[in-house]
Amino acid sequence: MPDPYVSQRRVLITGAAGGLGSALASEFVSQGWKVALCDVDRDAVAAFAGRLKERGGDVLSTGCDVTVESELIKLRELCEAEWGGLDVLINNAGIASMAAIHKEPMERWQRLIDINLLGVVRGCHSFVPLFKKQGGGHIVNIASIAGIANTPFMAAYNATKAAVISVSETLLVELAPSNIGVTVVCPAMFKTGIAQRAPIDNPKLRRALEAEMAKSPISAEDIAEQVFSAVQRKQFLVIPHRASRWQYRVKRLSPGLYRRIFLKH
Ligand SMILES: NC(=O)c1ccc[n+]([C@@H]2O[C@H](COP(=O)([O-])OP(=O)(O)OC[C@H]3O[C@@H](n4cnc5c(N)ncnc54)[C@H](O)[C@@H]3O)[C@@H](O)[C@H]2O)c1
Repeated sequence: MPDPYVSQRRVLITGAAGGLGSALASEFVSQGWKVALCDVDRDAVAAFAGRLKERGGDVLSTGCDVTVESELIKLRELCEAEWGGLDVLINNAGIASMAAIHKEPMERWQRLIDINLLGVVRGCHSFVPLFKKQGGGHIVNIASIAGIANTPFMAAYNATKAAVISVSETLLVELAPSNIGVTVVCPAMFKTGIAQRAPIDNPKLRRALEAEMAKSPISAEDIAEQVFSAVQRKQFLVIPHRASRWQYRVKRLSPGLYRRIFLKH
């Protein structure tokens, strides 16, 4: 028996022009959901929406920069005008960066925080009032295992993802009385265009990141399937990579053992 708050099957995905956002959009379209796509890359998101429509998808698309709150509010108004509301918000838009702590410029820290953390906050800020008004909804925040297992040379990225996990845990309890569910997704690296787009000055670090992404045993599509099923089951924490689930458990149960095995320290 579907929960009434997702029964109309309307989802909005930020950063949906490529990578995991596109895979999520394809998954929800395949499952018969209405899908609203937005991305800072307006042309790319419009082109992708066109392809989904050719497959028979019921799709809305628009440009939206998650660093601009008024654009997220316009999105909420669009969902209300076109669909009469929204059931699931997926805060997916994100960027990466890699550098030694003393070499990451402060502007990049600010950019990462503005997109990866405050982009999620702005999404919640704009849509929670709608979810409360309509009696429920579900928020999915795309974090990363980097927010739990802090990889060296990624301090800014790790910090933003740890903060997204913290916001998600906060909202899980805070919003439960309003019938608003929360899921936080913590993938390890998988292949998308995020590394190419990232402002990484050190070629050795860039190669290491790309090699790690290429090694992923699972794809963006596999992760999208897991997210879809987590929304159905109202699962809070999703760690899609099997190896990361072990890493997570060991860190919680024995931080000393975790440091010796995974950090060799
Ligand atoms: N790929 C990985 O290895 C990996 C691992 C863990 C978590 N993640 C997270 O998954 C999410 C999706 O990443 P991806 O790998 O698909 O990356 P991607 O670069 O392929 O896609 C990200 C999309 O977000 C859009 N975007 C960037 N800035 C934006 C902004 N200000 N406003 C709106 N849209 C914006 C980009 O245009 C792009 O289409 C991110 O939050 C990322 O941190 C990725």
